[in-house]
Amino acid sequence: MKFFLDSAHVNEIAYALEMWNLDGVTTNPRHVQASGKPFMQVIQEIAKLFDGTDKPISVEVNPHHTDWKLMVAEGEKLAAMCPNFVIKLPAIEPGFKAVAALADKGIRSNLTLVFSTSQALQAMRMGAAFVSPFIGWKEANGEESVRFIQEIAAIRDNYGFETEIIVAAVRNGRQIAESAIAGADIVTAGLAVFKDSFDHPYTHDGLVKFCNFWDQTKYE
Ligand code: E4P
Repeated sequence: MKFFLDSAHVNEIAYALEMWNLDGVTTNPRHVQASGKPFMQVIQEIAKLFDGTDKPISVEVNPHHTDWKLMVAEGEKLAAMCPNFVIKLPAIEPGFKAVAALADKGIRSNLTLVFSTSQALQAMRMGAAFVSPFIGWKEANGEESVRFIQEIAAIRDNYGFETEIIVAAVRNGRQIAESAIAGADIVTAGLAVFKDSFDHPYTHDGLVKFCNFWDQTKYE
């Protein structure tokens, strides 16, 4: 089970790399906007952090593109900049076509904004390296998400697809654990979500108790 950071904040990514053995990064236009930096600048700064590793960094093409050829042209340009870049494409018909065209050129892509099992299936069929089902958005809409991930994982296993499932829009530790149990390969989440998931108030209560006992005991 791999952990990706969903962020374009260079300092957050550097922190997670150092502290958590981070496995990769996903960015999107909202994260890039929040970084306050131009797109090209921020993706190059992120790329520098991953120099000499094979960890993937998803970078999203211009979301205005509706022509698959424009998606492919931009994907090729981005992929040429850094071997870690994975081209993030929307789960719409031209996006699926662009996945196949990029795969033919040896360029990996990540299908984003996936909300149905059949969208995930088409991403896998077309040769996506990654598929990103958005569970937080579904749950906010009153839809279930565990069965959704189980279905995608079952299809991956039934047909031996090599596509890795990145569970996205993850809001809490429960969803991280459920994704792992349901058969996802990767969870991508924000810094605060991961930090909260590593923590529990009883751990801190227990530490206070153990410190008290420690202080009442001789070491040797
Ligand atoms: C995943 O790749 C997306 O960047 C992300 O999870 C989007 O959802 P959010 O911004 O609502 O968390």
